[in-house]
Amino acid sequence: MIGATATAPLRGTVRVPGDKSITHRLAILAALARGPSRIRTPSPAGDCAATIAALAGFGLEVSSGPDGVVISGRGPEGLGRPAAPIDCERSATTMRLLAGVAAGLPFDTSFTGDGQLLRRPMERVAAPLRRMGARVETARGGRPPLRVAGGRLRGRDHVLPVASAQVKSAVLLASMRAEGRTVVEEPHQSRDHTERLLGWLGAPIARFSRNGHPAVATHPCTIETFKAAVPGDLSSAAFLAAGAALVAGSDVVVEGVGLNPTRTGFLDVLSRMGARVETEILTGEPEPTGRLRVGAAPLAAVDVSAVEVPGVIDELPLIALLATAAEGATTVTGAGELRVKESDRIAGVLAGLRALGADTHELPDGFAVTGPTPLRGGEVEAHGDHRVAMTFALAGLVAAGPVRVHGIERAADSFPGFASILGELR
Ligand code: S3P
Repeated sequence: MIGATATAPLRGTVRVPGDKSITHRLAILAALARGPSRIRTPSPAGDCAATIAALAGFGLEVSSGPDGVVISGRGPEGLGRPAAPIDCERSATTMRLLAGVAAGLPFDTSFTGDGQLLRRPMERVAAPLRRMGARVETARGGRPPLRVAGGRLRGRDHVLPVASAQVKSAVLLASMRAEGRTVVEEPHQSRDHTERLLGWLGAPIARFSRNGHPAVATHPCTIETFKAAVPGDLSSAAFLAAGAALVAGSDVVVEGVGLNPTRTGFLDVLSRMGARVETEILTGEPEPTGRLRVGAAPLAAVDVSAVEVPGVIDELPLIALLATAAEGATTVTGAGELRVKESDRIAGVLAGLRALGADTHELPDGFAVTGPTPLRGGEVEAHGDHRVAMTFALAGLVAAGPVRVHGIERAADSFPGFASILGELR
């Protein structure tokens, strides 16, 4: 295995910051409940701060302290017209999920964000919300800024062309105010936090399979206030797990991490590649949470195809890196969505890995990486993308020379403390 360089093994037990996806959702659900809800160990990432600030922009009382965030909702009708466009900063999740909420409000809400977010596709969320009766305007090419003129919504049956938890969530949030039944069918199962949390809070959620595809149905509803602890973000823990798999002699434990089965696809891939992966779920509510242990072992190539992609979508850059150390050709297909993330992750990750000596081949909807190839030091560009930046930082653990990552500061967009937690393991 190529990871057997002079790098010291990663060893120890750590925790990672709260899950970003779950924090966004709990904050929004708290805003829609009637009364104060407390969210402990929320994600400290900038993206979630943007959602929480947006809820304050709708006139809600929000307080943050060492015990977490308290959001005092007044039901959906208690959200007031924002005085200014909602600034979603760099967070597409904020914009897409809140567009679903705004669709049911009887006034116009405008959403904007920073330059990177202004390049992300929004038509995917605008189209189903229009079908439900909202007026949604995007800028040219279906990009933000977004203007949502909400009002009376009707439940619809949606068949999503792409598996996207953000689009599904926007529709489910809109459905809370829509007349009649709403159904969302997706081509493959994407992360299910919204439907899971809605069900936990008393919403009438039914999940089923239709034409072999996952679907969820719901009706207009109100939800209860709650107290919830956010599990550690498995997508952050994945970086530590990948480091542990790559560096010979490593053995890393992450405690208190989210192990929702719609998020653990990366662990399945890692174990198929040959790494030692153990999980133990210790609590189930509101989200499965427990312990993850990963140890290094010789790695072999794997194939990842469309059905598996939504469950590993944020970890695909790591799979490209792991593939450089694995015996054989690893292929990922059906992952065209990677081109419209914070950056074009197919082009950016492969360019960086190639600069470090990897054997890569770009596909329209994925990549092939043949290994093992020893990585060398060099300079790589993260293109303002947190997950690309952290992937290259990990490459530095196994490269023969130092890897300089332009844009490593973006790691804090999803994993504040990345470098220091990694440091605790050395
Ligand atoms: C997310 C869904 C995924 C994921 C993103 C977070 C969410 O995006 O890549 O990091 O919280 O719903 P898509 O819905 O665009 O697949």
